Amino acid sequence: MNRIGVLTSGGDAPGMNAAIRAIVRSAGHFDMSVVGFKRGYNGPLMREENPSNDYEILTSRQVSNTVHRGGTFLMTARSREFLEVKNQEKAIQNMRTLGLEGLIAIGGDGTFGGAHDLNELGFPTIGLPGTIDNDLAYTDFTLGYDTALNTACECINRIRETSDSHERASLITVMGRNCGEIAINTALACGAEFVMVPEAKWSCEQIADRMKWGRLNGKRSTILILAEGAYKSLTSDVNAICSEHEKLHKYISEQMNASKLAAILEVLSGQETRATVLGYIQRGGSPSALDRVLAGRMGDRAVQALRANRGGVGIGIHENKLVEVPFKEIIGTHRPLNKELLELVSRLAK
Ligand code: F6P
Repeated sequence: MNRIGVLTSGGDAPGMNAAIRAIVRSAGHFDMSVVGFKRGYNGPLMREENPSNDYEILTSRQVSNTVHRGGTFLMTARSREFLEVKNQEKAIQNMRTLGLEGLIAIGGDGTFGGAHDLNELGFPTIGLPGTIDNDLAYTDFTLGYDTALNTACECINRIRETSDSHERASLITVMGRNCGEIAINTALACGAEFVMVPEAKWSCEQIADRMKWGRLNGKRSTILILAEGAYKSLTSDVNAICSEHEKLHKYISEQMNASKLAAILEVLSGQETRATVLGYIQRGGSPSALDRVLAGRMGDRAVQALRANRGGVGIGIHENKLVEVPFKEIIGTHRPLNKELLELVSRLAK
């Protein structure tokens, strides 16, 4: 192969720039050139009036000073248009016109779906896992996850200090969509008392009991980690709780959210409880050393796989060894709950 493309799609993740850099530099080493598409799969659709808004040829110097930068300089998008086969065919035609023989798509499960479709249509495509969620089961780690964990920990260290000074409980919502990986590991790393994840049932009463137990056993503050997708596994009858307690009446018709949950826990446990939603702060920031190393290794392997005509795979890491896993084994699978870690959070919170 003489020329390949690269794009970043879906939610940005720290380490994406380091991966693009590795792809450009490794490709250069093998005398291949790289075209960088902008705004995810919208790039190869070439809908912009000015083509330089869709793509640019990436030279080795253009990726200088990017290894440490968060976000993605190619920009990203979630392209609805790209879901249609006629648009995927158009993208392939455009990429062939540019002289491309393969593509590396960096992103999460949606990105891998698009990469799989392109590969099935005959355009060799490789997936590189870039998402803070770490929800792709085929790889031990995705790019950006380690940085997001570290960012969450740094924020929670600060919250813990104020929480402890005021003898409060803090309910902290972390990202992760339908996966509890960020939440469980943040909880472990921050010494949280309880973690709520989408994959396991939990109740307000159970958490309040734990908070009361902590107070009785000399804990001044409580750290509770809530995965953003965890409301779906809440088993409590929230309306009944809110009706029973006058202080909670104002929440009866309100959809479940962090402030409402904090108010319920405060009433049930008797400990003042404040809510913090970490939000997009977890997606930004300079990638950790681990993410940069992973980006370098995975980017280089993706180039080597395309060069050897091994399209149709996701690059992953398992037991510190790079792996290439066929898309068919990746699409539609999600990382299962690690029950041992969930139990460990509880054991270490005593
Ligand atoms: O997939 C990464 C992620 O940050 C999830 O954790 C979160 O649910 C989602 O993206 C948010 O997406 P958006 O950027 O569209 O708000």
